[in-house]
Amino acid sequence: MQCLNVDLADRSYPIYIGADVLSDGSLLQRHIAGRQVCIVTDDTVAPLYLEALIQKLADYRVSSVVLPTGEAYKNWATLQQVFDALLADRHDRRTTLIALGGGVIGDMTGFAAACYQRGVDFIQVPTTLLSQVDSSVGGKTGINHPAGKNMLGAFYQPKAVLIDTDSLHTLPAREVSAGLAEIIKYGLIRDAGFLAWLEQNITALRSLDATTVIHAIERSCAIKAEVVAADEREGGVRAILNLGHTFGHAIEAHQGYGNWLHGEAVGAGMVMALDLSCRLGWVTDAERQRAVALIAAAGLPVAPPKGMRVADFEQLMAVDKKVLDGQLRLVLLHGLGSAVVTAEFDADVLRQCLLGFE
Ligand code: NAD
Ligand code: GLY
Repeated sequence: MQCLNVDLADRSYPIYIGADVLSDGSLLQRHIAGRQVCIVTDDTVAPLYLEALIQKLADYRVSSVVLPTGEAYKNWATLQQVFDALLADRHDRRTTLIALGGGVIGDMTGFAAACYQRGVDFIQVPTTLLSQVDSSVGGKTGINHPAGKNMLGAFYQPKAVLIDTDSLHTLPAREVSAGLAEIIKYGLIRDAGFLAWLEQNITALRSLDATTVIHAIERSCAIKAEVVAADEREGGVRAILNLGHTFGHAIEAHQGYGNWLHGEAVGAGMVMALDLSCRLGWVTDAERQRAVALIAAAGLPVAPPKGMRVADFEQLMAVDKKVLDGQLRLVLLHGLGSAVVTAEFDADVLRQCLLGFE
């Protein structure tokens, strides 16, 4: 088992990674302060892993809430179900919520923990590749609004992240590819050596070879932990973690939440960010092609959905959280392995880029 740390002073926490992190329950129990626990999960994950997790918590008063599966349910109405369950089971301020599932469950459980009785503890037990390399770490929590992705939420850190890689064996291939999008993102924004390693190992990763997947998760979490420790509330550098996301969030909202997976939208969004960076002369065409080939090899889309027009992107990108004082900022690349967050691009070049994908 590997252990990393997210270094945030009194809000620091460990990330445990391995095939056995949930095996005896002691790691989990170490991070539960009171005697009450509420496990939040969805109706796909519950039949697979809920009972086993409850058994690790025999000494606690455990309740659970099983939400409908999917991005389309990452909203107020579903969140309300968590609060209803917590109140019905009389959870007090010493309770701990456990998010058992993918990024949708992690983001909603974290937000519920941030709100319930003005804040209770929560622990992330991510079960998708995407949530194991990204959403479970860093404390961004929240829900979608019909007009924009992740528009309502809070920065609220978990007490621990337990990444049990055994849970990946039940994950559909399409979800594995979605997770690879965020892994490739880390190479593109921060680590050219890791990007080259990913090119060598993409087939092993898609088939979930144990050693290869653990290395990819570790490197991804290490990069994320480093960036979050430097800028927890995204005043600056943390925004680089959103490479491809401004385009991607527009795709998700336009298609209707859940129709394109988040990771798929990020894959196509990164291709668009590479295209724009190339048009601006910041990456070479050879670099762009190399990165696009890796995204394709991961099983991800390399273009936005057919029928999505420039005007659709312009309207949806205008509500991105990186817009400041009405000015759109984008994460772009200065070579592979180095990202910038900038508003310093010619709007006509962005338009040409979007037109090129129409
Ligand atoms: P998800 O939570 O919808 O899970 C994907 C699917 O896999 C679901 O159908 C789920 O039921 C199923 N599933 C989960 N674990 C499984 C398992 N072990 N076996 C079989 N099926 C399993 O999606 P996701 O890709 O995990 O997360 C995407 C969400 O994460 C988006 O809402 C995105 O906005 C958010 N996100 C948040 C952050 C952050 O920093 N907070 C970062 C990246 C993404
Ligand atoms: N997924 C982007 C972030 O955590 O900042």
